[in-house]
Amino acid sequence: MLAASREVVAVTGDSVSEAVRAASSLDGDGAPIVVSNRQPYSHEYEDGEMSVDRPAGGLTAALDPVMQTVNGTWVAWGSGDADRDVSDGGAVRVPPDDPSYDLQRVWLDDDQLEGYYYGFSNQTLWPLCHSDTARVRFSTADWEQYQAVNRQFAESVTSAADRQEPVVWFQDYHLSLAPRIVRERLLPDAFCMHFWHLPWPGWDSFRICPRAVSILDGLLANDLLGFHTPEYCRNFFDCVDRTLDASVDRDTGTIRYRGDTTTVRPFRLGIDAAAQAEQARSSAAEAFARGFRDEWDIGEDTRVAVGVDRLDYTKGIERRFDALERVWERSPEWRGKLTFVQKGAESRSSIPAYSRLQDRIDDRVAAINERFGTDDWQPVVYTTEMLSQERLAGLYRGADLALVTPVRDGMNLVAKEYVAAQVDDPGTLVLSGFAGAAEELGDGAELVNPYDVDAVADAVERGLRMPATERQRRMQTLDEQVHENDVYAWIARQFRAARSVQTGQQYEPPPRRRSH
Ligand code: F6P
Repeated sequence: MLAASREVVAVTGDSVSEAVRAASSLDGDGAPIVVSNRQPYSHEYEDGEMSVDRPAGGLTAALDPVMQTVNGTWVAWGSGDADRDVSDGGAVRVPPDDPSYDLQRVWLDDDQLEGYYYGFSNQTLWPLCHSDTARVRFSTADWEQYQAVNRQFAESVTSAADRQEPVVWFQDYHLSLAPRIVRERLLPDAFCMHFWHLPWPGWDSFRICPRAVSILDGLLANDLLGFHTPEYCRNFFDCVDRTLDASVDRDTGTIRYRGDTTTVRPFRLGIDAAAQAEQARSSAAEAFARGFRDEWDIGEDTRVAVGVDRLDYTKGIERRFDALERVWERSPEWRGKLTFVQKGAESRSSIPAYSRLQDRIDDRVAAINERFGTDDWQPVVYTTEMLSQERLAGLYRGADLALVTPVRDGMNLVAKEYVAAQVDDPGTLVLSGFAGAAEELGDGAELVNPYDVDAVADAVERGLRMPATERQRRMQTLDEQVHENDVYAWIARQFRAARSVQTGQQYEPPPRRRSH
């Protein structure tokens, strides 16, 4: 068993303790090694002084307290001069004010980053897994860099593992080849687990990948492989069945391939719901929500709808604008009475599809405001300003409606953040049926097809007119889901499943839920 080197009680919250207990129950040498592209802490120089930045939220922030308690190692891409200086060729202990685990950085030069991250990861696998096959681009040079960087990550895992049988937990699509390299060339007795944060596409999309066999072969070196939803697991089984000489058992959720077994399970990713609710209740959140209305001159009787997205073509932002335009076009009573706030976060801008999207969004916002705006009302408020967690929670809390309308999304945590932030008079969640979150939140949300502009416009109007009792009833259902399936439950379920795989326990399939 892995020993938790610090007291479980040192971490606040039952759900964190549960995740720590599950991590500590695994057979293996030493504490788990987490491997991801993004790192949990980044060092930076500010006016010549070194400072440390923590991610504002998401997976890295949630895994951090667990890693602090189990005393593991985290292998991730180190990106700047300060990262390099502080690491001095080795691992750096984090967090800086209470060092409790090792962050081991992988260094990439510009060509590697271009081919591995901007190339194969984000111009081949990203559109492929989101079933946007027209955008899939493949280059042999990118693939070679992707292979080389996966080798580098695998070697870094080996140097982080001071013994022969570590538990290694890979994250995401950047690292599909690393498990095979670790298992076959470096640490044959490692227990490898992997979570795929993107959708897994149907075979008809996946088959266009010129390196489909290698990707599947890499992932099947894992003992345990997780996806967000049962649908993605089913797609994965189909792809393996039609591509490899493997034996797929859908009843037990296992695949036999090259003499080894991989267990495939759905684990829906959640957020730190308790922290989100607390942030939404904070005075900083309340002050921000009030100040925001003043800053943008949003009148007291004007309703606010919100969208919060990384600027990615999968998020369906332009179609969302189509739907809002439709509302103002056909229902003039909403002119001056509904303001839409789109918060965007710049992303992957050196990829043309992303920079073009940013330009189109700028133009679109200007055109809508020109078409419908008046002297005292701006229909769309668009900001790419970085917001603290409290301010973002304030934005959610103050919004009467959230539009989460991706054309395809692995899970979508914005939907869950909006729900957890509805701590007083709740709003309405309008949610795309093509987000992984729809499987879980479909009952309480207004579920839409983002390609159907009129239907999204209908859902917006319905949401804004929904009586308070109905909004409360729906939000209570959603809130229970979001709290019960938080990020710590996600971690705990995976480590418990890993323990079942290690001990050969019978698999109990999760209860079937309605699919949308
Ligand atoms: O959704 C998959 C994911 O890797 C997330 O984990 C991450 O938040 C997002 O894509 C953005 O990734 P990046 O900025 O690292 O390309």
